[in-house]
Amino acid sequence: MRCHEVRLTAIPDGAVTPASFGVFDADLTSPGPGQVLVGVRRLGLNAGLAHRIGGKGTAYGPGIGIGDVPASDAVVQVLESTDARFQPGDLAVGKVPWSTAAVVDASELRRIDRPTSGDDLDAHLTVLGHVGFTAYTGMIGIGQVQPGEVVYVSGAAGGVGSCAVQFAKARGASVIGVAGSAEKVALLTEVLGADRAINRHDGAAVDLLRAAAPDGIDLYYDNVGGEQLEAALEVLNFGGRVVICGAVRGSGAPANYRNAIYQELTLRGFAVTAHEDLRPKFESQVRMWLRDKKVRSVHTVFEGIESVSEAFESLLTGGSRGRVIVSMSARRS
Ligand SMILES: NC(=O)c1ccc[n+]([C@@H]2O[C@H](COP(=O)([O-])OP(=O)(O)OC[C@H]3O[C@@H](n4cnc5c(N)ncnc54)[C@H](OP(=O)(O)O)[C@@H]3O)[C@@H](O)[C@H]2O)c1
Repeated sequence: MRCHEVRLTAIPDGAVTPASFGVFDADLTSPGPGQVLVGVRRLGLNAGLAHRIGGKGTAYGPGIGIGDVPASDAVVQVLESTDARFQPGDLAVGKVPWSTAAVVDASELRRIDRPTSGDDLDAHLTVLGHVGFTAYTGMIGIGQVQPGEVVYVSGAAGGVGSCAVQFAKARGASVIGVAGSAEKVALLTEVLGADRAINRHDGAAVDLLRAAAPDGIDLYYDNVGGEQLEAALEVLNFGGRVVICGAVRGSGAPANYRNAIYQELTLRGFAVTAHEDLRPKFESQVRMWLRDKKVRSVHTVFEGIESVSEAFESLLTGGSRGRVIVSMSARRS
């Protein structure tokens, strides 16, 4: 079987651009024992992957060199299976190469229910997907957000952040989100339900946060580190908590970390992969919130494998809303 796949064609000198990738024809072998051939229906992209391009691997995957095909989480449809757990036609989620089709180990896939609409399929890459599970683990499992608390979320309009904001709201917290453009600020208050939103380009992070939270914050959900973490350490109330989810490239240790002593703060990082025990609760709770319209899937869809590099660039330049998803039809080619 033939497929189309996206390969890294050049190591970018600076930001990743569409010129860094190309789409190529490739042959697929038949699935071996325990493997399935899948057609990719929806591919979810992550900005964090940029850290691995031309560099070393991270906890999230190996370094990506010229000729390599990056991989992301995706909704796939089984086309052929040698594994009893999957039948042709089944839908599943899992990490697959940036390709129209792939042969993957059945053990790497998790079956999902057949959706009632296209939106439901997208939700498996947002609120019901890896970013949703990360936000649930961080905000509910680790952060233990409580009704009435004031919560600050950075990278709030991104994949994880947009879920973290909504889950904290669904739990009855008052939420302040920070994002990098006027459009994202509007998204936060008008769509995601944040009580207040900050454009991080409007001034110093600490001044903006103090103005938005005159009575301080109780919980900071950190997707970016750096200046935002430092601002939160200034504004957190006594006994406040920080959930460390992510850090953008170049963000070092905060200069004011001693505030953790004076304010008896708890700073806790987490790796979502260590919290599979939370998944059943996560799935039932988020399905209920979706049904009650307390949360929604926020995403930007690009069409077709040829749009992957453009979609990835939009993620890095802030030109997209929520999760960036590439939609493909699960046909044999
Ligand atoms: N701990 C875990 O187990 C786990 C699991 C999954 C993901 N993560 C991490 O969680 C974080 C969020 O993931 P995601 O999928 O939501 O990524 P994402 O959609 O790319 O969101 C990240 C956000 O960071 C903001 N940002 C980028 N550069 C920034 C800068 N210099 N200063 C401040 N903000 C900046 C951007 O928003 P604005 O430009 O709008 O501010 C962007 O939307 C990433 O760091 C990822 O590695 C952790």
